[in-house]
Amino acid sequence: MSTNSEQRGGFTSYFGAVAAAVGSAVGLGNIWRFPYIAGEYGGGAFIMLYLIFVFGLGVPIMIGEFVIGRRSGRNAMGAFRVLSPKHKGWLGIGILAVITCVIIYSFYSVVAGWTIEYTWLSCTNGLAGKEASEISEAFTSFIQHPYLPILFQGLLVFLTGAVVIGGVQKGIEKFTKIVMPVLFFIMLLLCVRSLTLPGSKEGMSFLFKPEFGNLTATGVLAAMGQAIFSLSIGAGLLITYGSYVRKEDNMMSSCFFIASSDTAIALLAGIAIFPAVFTFGLSPASGPSLVFETLPNVFNNMPMGQFFAILFFVLLALAAITTTISLLEVIVLWVVEELHLKRTSATIITSLVIFALGALCSLSLGTLKDFTILGYTFFDACDKLTATYLMPIGALAVTIYLGWFYKKEDVLDEVSNHGTLKTWYIKLFYFVLRYIAPIVLTVILITGSLGIAG
Ligand code: PHE
Repeated sequence: MSTNSEQRGGFTSYFGAVAAAVGSAVGLGNIWRFPYIAGEYGGGAFIMLYLIFVFGLGVPIMIGEFVIGRRSGRNAMGAFRVLSPKHKGWLGIGILAVITCVIIYSFYSVVAGWTIEYTWLSCTNGLAGKEASEISEAFTSFIQHPYLPILFQGLLVFLTGAVVIGGVQKGIEKFTKIVMPVLFFIMLLLCVRSLTLPGSKEGMSFLFKPEFGNLTATGVLAAMGQAIFSLSIGAGLLITYGSYVRKEDNMMSSCFFIASSDTAIALLAGIAIFPAVFTFGLSPASGPSLVFETLPNVFNNMPMGQFFAILFFVLLALAAITTTISLLEVIVLWVVEELHLKRTSATIITSLVIFALGALCSLSLGTLKDFTILGYTFFDACDKLTATYLMPIGALAVTIYLGWFYKKEDVLDEVSNHGTLKTWYIKLFYFVLRYIAPIVLTVILITGSLGIAG
C-alpha cells in the first residue's frame, strides 16, 4: 500500500509531526476542562483512574487510528476507501469523523474566542480591583452578549484558517514547532509561581491524594470521557495526522509521547491552578467557570497578578488555537481530497461554515437561550453530542474495524514498520484493540445514553 505523502507534502521532521499532534491533543480539554472535572470529582482518585484510561485504553486506540492513517495515506474518509475498497459501509466512520470535527470546532471556537477576549482583558487590566461577584457578572454578561463573543470567535476562526491555508509544512508545522515549546515554558513558569504560594501543600494534596470516597460512578465515566476528549480520539484527527506520518517513524513511541505530553500538560494545569485557588480560599469545584471566574479572582489577589494573568490566558489561547488548527485540517483535507477543491477555497468555505455554526452556539448562551434541542441549548447540545456519543462511537468503530474486520497481519505489519520493530507491546496493543476497548467503549456509550455520564 503506497502513501501519496510526497505529493501531499507531509511533515518535514519527526519533531514537526509530533509537535503538531501534541498541539492538537493539548487544548482547552487540558487547561480548562481537566482541572474543573478533576475538581468536581475530588482530585486524586479521579486522576489515578484518568491515567489508567489514558494509557490502558487511549494509547492503543490512538495507535490504531495512526495505523489507518499511515497505511492509507488519505483523509479520515478516503482512508477507508483505500484500505477496504469493496466495503463502502466503512466510509461511514470517516463521514462521522468529519461531522464530529465540524461540531466540535463550532462550539470549541466559541470558548477559544473567550480566551482571546480574556487575554485582551488581562493586557488592559480590565478585571483589576473587581469583587468576585463582579468578575462573575462580567463573565456572564460577556458570554451572553449578542455580538462581542462572536467577534472574538470570528477572529479565532480567521487566525486558524490563516495557518491551515499554508498547508501542513508551511502552516501547521511551522506554527506548532514554535508555539508548543513556548506553551510548555509558560506552563512551567505558572507552576513555579503557584507552588511557591502558601496554599501549595493543600492544593497538591487535593490534586494527588486519592480519596476514593469522592469518586462516584459518574466520576469514572467522566474520567473515561475526558481521556477520549483530551487525546482527540474518535474524531478522525489521528487518522488525518497519521496520513502525514513517515514510514520510518515508530508510531507506538509517538503515541506514548503524545499521550504523556497531553497528560503532563493537564496535570501541570492542575498544579498551576489548585495551589493558587486554595491560597486565596476559593472553591476548587466551581465547574466550567473555574478558569474564567475563579482564576481572575486569584490573579487579583496575587502579587504581579496581571503579569501571570496575561501568561495564563496567552497559554490558554495558544493551546486552543493549536487544537482548532488540527480540527480544521481534518475537515479541509476531506474537502480537498473528496470534493476536489483547492486548499485555499476549501479553507475559506469551511471556515465560513464554522463561523456561522459557532455564532449560533454563542447566541444560544444568551439571545437564543430559549431555543433548545431536547432541553439543551445549541452550545450544550454540540458539546454533549460529541463528547458523549460521537467520539466514543467513532473510537468504537475504529476498534471494531481494526480488531475484527481488517486483517490482523496487516495491522501488525503497519504498527511494526513491516516487522522491523519488535516489542512485546504489539501483542498487548492488539489485544486491547480487539477485546478490551470495544467492551469499555460500549459501556461508556450505554451509560452515557442512560444519562449517568451527565
Ligand atoms: N483534545 C482536544 C482538547 O483537549 C479536543 C479535541 C477533541 C480536539 C477532538 C480534536 C478532536 O482540547
